[in-house]
Amino acid sequence: MRNSFKTFLKHTAKDFHNQSVNPPVVRASTIIFKSMQELRKTQAKALKKPTGGYYDYGRQGTSTTYILQKILTKLEESYHVFTTPTGFGAVFLAIFSVTRPGDEIIAVDPIYTPSRILMESYLKEFKIKTSFYNPNDLNTLKKCITKKTKLIFVENPGSNTFEFQDLSKIISIAKKNKILTAIDNTWATPYFFKPIKLGFDMAIVSATKYYSGHSDVMGGSLAVNKKVYNKVKIADKMTGLRLGPDDAYLITRGLRTLDVRLDKHNENAKKVSKFLSKFKNVQLLYPYNKNSSNYKMWKKYYSGASGLMGLKIKSKNKASVQKFVNSLKLFGHGYSWGGFESLALHQETNETGTRKYQKLLNNEHLVRLHIGLEDPSDLIADIKQAMKHIK
Ligand SMILES: Cc1ncc(COP(=O)(O)O)c(C=O)c1O
Repeated sequence: MRNSFKTFLKHTAKDFHNQSVNPPVVRASTIIFKSMQELRKTQAKALKKPTGGYYDYGRQGTSTTYILQKILTKLEESYHVFTTPTGFGAVFLAIFSVTRPGDEIIAVDPIYTPSRILMESYLKEFKIKTSFYNPNDLNTLKKCITKKTKLIFVENPGSNTFEFQDLSKIISIAKKNKILTAIDNTWATPYFFKPIKLGFDMAIVSATKYYSGHSDVMGGSLAVNKKVYNKVKIADKMTGLRLGPDDAYLITRGLRTLDVRLDKHNENAKKVSKFLSKFKNVQLLYPYNKNSSNYKMWKKYYSGASGLMGLKIKSKNKASVQKFVNSLKLFGHGYSWGGFESLALHQETNETGTRKYQKLLNNEHLVRLHIGLEDPSDLIADIKQAMKHIK
């Protein structure tokens, strides 16, 4: 009998030894073996089999981390998943694994701002150059390719402006030019879209968001195919980016309900978008309008949409847009997303100001909403009362 992934999430990682439905949290630096021969044998096995659960020192993780990696490898349908202490750690690991001084990266223009800062300033000091392409025009990507290009770094949808790209086209451009590909898939998670299956070499998810689902832990995952596995394994060892067992446990616990939560975020966000689509001064940055190219690209690759959306609000009065955000009573104002709760942020233009293509006009304002698991009619009523402030 072959169970679906939804069933797997509920039944996996039981601890039959202790008869508990959840795995134990194994905290360890030193791992003790009965003999030196056994230690060496385990070391050799650890090198050969990525998801075998063999480790000889706590820096490689413990059985608690391995259980999480095993679940994520199945969810991603990848060769292996490395886990990191934060999502940003997974971004760094992906880049550090496959680039060296003198190499070049091509990244999507609306990339997560800290990833952009890493590329534009920090990597530059190590002589790694990054150019940025327009997600709505892949010719700009082709134009960035040089003999030195080692990596195309995609984020889909784009941070804050939520453009959906033609992902197969990007993969085929990369393959034709023998360039590796990575995608930040935090918005959808592999529950809604599996990048490695489509042909990406690496896929990043900030586990801080939907995997954990409860805004109480940070973590990251980097799924890889066989082609890049060895490179990432070496970088993983060199950086010592280890996810702690307590955090790994919390993320595994969150994964039990990933499907239930994401389906509900999807349902709630759909209801909120339907309400928001009535406002003429609001452009919804969410796959809602069936005639838009964003919707078509989303539909082509994704089986669902998460709870994170953008609103491009037209107003000559910036203060009134800020008042709208501040007047929301059920939406907290703070960074991150993917937890059970709704959040709202007014994006200052300087947060997107470094972008080459996605510039805002003077009368355009970006607001990011995370639609949580509250009753959607309460969220809609809250947005309705706050919208009255926009002038
Ligand atoms: C798209 C995206 N990627 C990566 C990250 C980084 O994840 P973390 O906060 O877990 O380091 C974030 C965090 O907001 C994000 O939004």
